Amino acid sequence: MKVISVVSAKGGVGKSTFCVGMGRLLALHDKRVLLVDMDIGVRSLDILLGVSERVVYNWGDLVKGNCDFRKAVTEVASNLYLLAAPIDFSEEYSEEKFKKAINQYLKDFDYIFLDSPAGLESGFKLSLCACDGCVVISTPDSISIRAASYACENVRKAGVETVRLVVNKFNKKLHKKINVDEVIDLVGARLLGIVPESYEIYSSASGGKIPYDCKGNMALLRISKRLSGENIPFRAKNL
Ligand SMILES: Nc1ncnc2c1ncn2[C@@H]1O[C@H](COP(=O)(O)OP(=O)(O)O)[C@@H](O)[C@H]1O
Ligand SMILES: [Mg+2]
Repeated sequence: MKVISVVSAKGGVGKSTFCVGMGRLLALHDKRVLLVDMDIGVRSLDILLGVSERVVYNWGDLVKGNCDFRKAVTEVASNLYLLAAPIDFSEEYSEEKFKKAINQYLKDFDYIFLDSPAGLESGFKLSLCACDGCVVISTPDSISIRAASYACENVRKAGVETVRLVVNKFNKKLHKKINVDEVIDLVGARLLGIVPESYEIYSSASGGKIPYDCKGNMALLRISKRLSGENIPFRAKNL
C-alpha cells in the first residue's frame, strides 16, 4: 500500500492521530510522507501537526487549478508534508479530478495517507477513489466496531481490496474481556496492529510530539514497519 485511506464511519476513534503518528515515524525513518486531510470544513491535521499558521493552500485549490501541486503542500518536518482540506465543499471536487490531483504526488512520496472524516460521505468517497488500500480504525467498544465494519463493507464495495484493521485505545484493564480475534471477525479485516490507550498519544493532540520510546509510540512503530513490509510478529494476541 502506498496511498492509504484511513477510515471508520465514526469520529473520535483516532484516525487523524494515527495518520500523524505514521507520518512522523515513517518520515523519521527516511520515508517521504504526505498527509492529506479529507475532512472538508472540519480540518484537524494542521492543528495536530502544529502548522495551522503556515497553511496557505489546500487540495481544493489544486483541484480547481488555483495552484501548482508543489505549492499546495505545507512542509511540516524533514520528509513530512501536509495537504490541507478545503474549508467549503465544491461541485468541482469530482472523484476523477481528486484522483488526478493526488496522482501528481506519487513520484515524490513513498506514502500518502488520506485522513478520512467520520461518516461515509464526500471526503470518505473521494479518499477511496484515490487510494490503493485502507486502514480501518476501531476502538474496542461495540459502537466503534459496528462503525468500522460498516466502513469496511463500503470500502470493499468501492473495489478497494487491501484493508487492514488497527484496534486503537486498547486499555488492558478496561478491555480485559475483549477478544481481539472477535473484533477482527466482526470488522472483517486482517489485523495490522493494536495501539494502547496512551496518555502520551492523547497529550500530543495540539502539535506536541509523542515521546519516541513510550509504549504507544512503540506500537505505532511496529505498525509503520508492517506497512513498510517488515515481518513484525504480533506479541500477545490479546495484548
Ligand atoms: N491511542 C490513543 N490513546 C489515547 N488517546 C488517543 C489515542 N488515539 C487517539 N486518541 C485521542 O482521541 C481523540 C480523537 O482522536 P482523533 O485522531 O481526532 O480521532 P478521529 O480522527 O477518528 O476523529 C483525541 O483526543 C486523541 O488525542
Ligand atoms: Mg479526524
